[in-house]
Amino acid sequence: MFETLKAQPADKILALMQMYKDDPRETKVDLGVGVYKDATGLTPVMRAVKAAEHKIWEAQDSKVYTGLAGDPAFADAMIDLVLDGAVPRATVAAAATPGGTGAVRQAFELIQMAKPDARVFVSDPTWPNHLSMLKYLNIEIVPYRYFDNETRGVDFDGMLADLKTAHAGDVILLHGCCHNPTGANLNATEWDAVIDVLQSTGATPMIDIAYQGFGDGLQEDAAATRKIVSSVPECLIAASCSKNFGIYRERTGLLMAVASDATAHDLNQQTLAYLNRQNFSFPPDHGARVVSTILNDATLKADWMAELEEVRNAMLDLRQQLADELQRLSGSDRFGFLAQHRGMFSRLGTTPEKVEQLRTEHGIYMVGDSRMNIAGLNTKSVPILAQAIIDVGI
Ligand code: LMR
Repeated sequence: MFETLKAQPADKILALMQMYKDDPRETKVDLGVGVYKDATGLTPVMRAVKAAEHKIWEAQDSKVYTGLAGDPAFADAMIDLVLDGAVPRATVAAAATPGGTGAVRQAFELIQMAKPDARVFVSDPTWPNHLSMLKYLNIEIVPYRYFDNETRGVDFDGMLADLKTAHAGDVILLHGCCHNPTGANLNATEWDAVIDVLQSTGATPMIDIAYQGFGDGLQEDAAATRKIVSSVPECLIAASCSKNFGIYRERTGLLMAVASDATAHDLNQQTLAYLNRQNFSFPPDHGARVVSTILNDATLKADWMAELEEVRNAMLDLRQQLADELQRLSGSDRFGFLAQHRGMFSRLGTTPEKVEQLRTEHGIYMVGDSRMNIAGLNTKSVPILAQAIIDVGI
């Protein structure tokens, strides 16, 4: 039967990771996959994570299964971190998932179970795996305008006009903060306008929040999510701990389904557990336990927050350095948007040909749509990148 299989399209981000590995050049620069690297190029285990793992190792006397929705302490801690009491806890159904990707996937499946003909509105562009999973599940995709290639900011009028065509039973997928792949984000007034559209159309918001703490701060990055969740009757939220706890390979995420009443909450909770059982039974526990250990220990939490803040500020510094260097080399302000963008990524806004030229001629690896992982830079690679951008004529 295997001969009937068809080759599937390679994931662009993962294919790039492999090409980078295979490149023998010592000067190569990896701005592909969204992983934070420190000034020495290492993706370190965060201090609080190490300490929590130590604590767990000493105290844990069993590896028996958790519940289908994972350890309730993890759900409680994450609901607190993301929502901070924006809605009553009793309205939030939640299940641990293998990473933020797992949460997104389970959310799509829940949408399909609830409403097989639901359309999902996605920003143009969005994280490629959103599209890939939606296609895989045969869910109709409706792109909405998002990135303005001229200003490298958000085409907000276009976005709003497109979102207004949604109706009850549709889902609008939003990036809670640090938009991936563009780095261009909405301001508070624009979020309010999106909430108005959610209310007038009756469409259900689904928020993918994978970078809380990487943009303007832990609280600031969750502000839009909290406001949305408290303004609409129902909402799905997929949260990831991969980046802000640096536990990428532990696969730690949480899917939240917020309902307006207790009956809907119970049904949501039961459905989330059912979906986990169908797809993988019990979710991974180690990363989740690390996260709840940190969030429930005042000292560990303070240290985690301090280190996350160091990471966030380092990324902001790199953004500024790159924008300054490009201003110096180009004699123009046209790269100023790099300092305005937030999160791990910025879309440079150039052609796939120029991206290819950066890779072949300069050993600089970024995704074909010109998404750069700012957290992959360091003070040594910033001038190399800036010079290469100018050399290829961007
Ligand atoms: C990314 O966008 O680079 C990350 O979210 C990693 C991934 O799984 O694609």
